[in-house]
Amino acid sequence: MSEAGILRPGAVALVTGASAGIGLATAEALAAKGLRVICAARDKTRLDGLAARLEGAHALALDVADAESCGGLLRRLPKDLREIDILVANAGHDVGGRKRFDEGDVEDWARTVETNVTGMIRTCHAVLPGMLARNRGHVVTLGSIAGLRTYTHGSIYSATKYAVRAFTEGLRADYAGTDLRITEILPGMTRTEFAARRFQDRARGEEFYDTFAATLDPADIANAILYALDQPPNVTVAQMVVVPTREA
Ligand SMILES: NC(=O)c1ccc[n+]([C@@H]2O[C@H](COP(=O)([O-])OP(=O)(O)OC[C@H]3O[C@@H](n4cnc5c(N)ncnc54)[C@H](OP(=O)(O)O)[C@@H]3O)[C@@H](O)[C@H]2O)c1
Repeated sequence: MSEAGILRPGAVALVTGASAGIGLATAEALAAKGLRVICAARDKTRLDGLAARLEGAHALALDVADAESCGGLLRRLPKDLREIDILVANAGHDVGGRKRFDEGDVEDWARTVETNVTGMIRTCHAVLPGMLARNRGHVVTLGSIAGLRTYTHGSIYSATKYAVRAFTEGLRADYAGTDLRITEILPGMTRTEFAARRFQDRARGEEFYDTFAATLDPADIANAILYALDQPPNVTVAQMVVVPTREA
């Protein structure tokens, strides 16, 4: 793509959930292209390590499930990082998940919705007005193949990812009269910290991924995100489903 595209050195990208997994790989890939990356998540210690390692990166403590944290997001940034060109709304989890609905803790279910759905909405609401005012911006949301079909013991996580899909399509409709681009990336099984966090057990998380014939690496999803960002301004990759080649 040309230097005029959004994926250009000096452009500002905000990646939520940048302390691990897909968000971390995306932050690394964007920084490697010379973008100034705001790395946001709750674990500030990890983010500080990341920001020290990545040229032009900035660590931002952000809890997307917290209204104040999201609402004040721009004010907590240095002035030269407030004009965000790219938002990768990636933060998400399934803590306490993979259980039959009645057997799960309802507070875990609620926190999953608050993070994956409400958190994404709050993050977009904080960033989109500036993009609109500049008529420049690309929002990438992280859906999932769980947002295309449900599975046993996945009712709430799937519900959140169906919501991400509807929300992303709704955003694209709302801003169809502007130059903003809205993309949803829907990954299949990707080996990250996601399963360890879900079970709150690192070994069990790894065992879970080992039950699949193949898994993707976080860098594979980062590549897909960069592909969508790197299209010419008149082209929107609306949805991209990315799955391992060998699934059985
Ligand atoms: N792995 C997969 O197979 C897969 C497949 C499809 C879709 N996805 C989606 O991809 C996204 C990233 O998942 P991942 O696999 O990379 O998981 P991961 O390795 O567990 O990373 C999740 C990231 O989200 C952050 N996060 C969680 N809750 C947060 C909150 N309240 N506020 C801010 N940040 C928060 C975590 O950081 P802190 O704990 O530091 O806040 C971490 O950086 C999620 O939306 C997930 O649903 C994953």
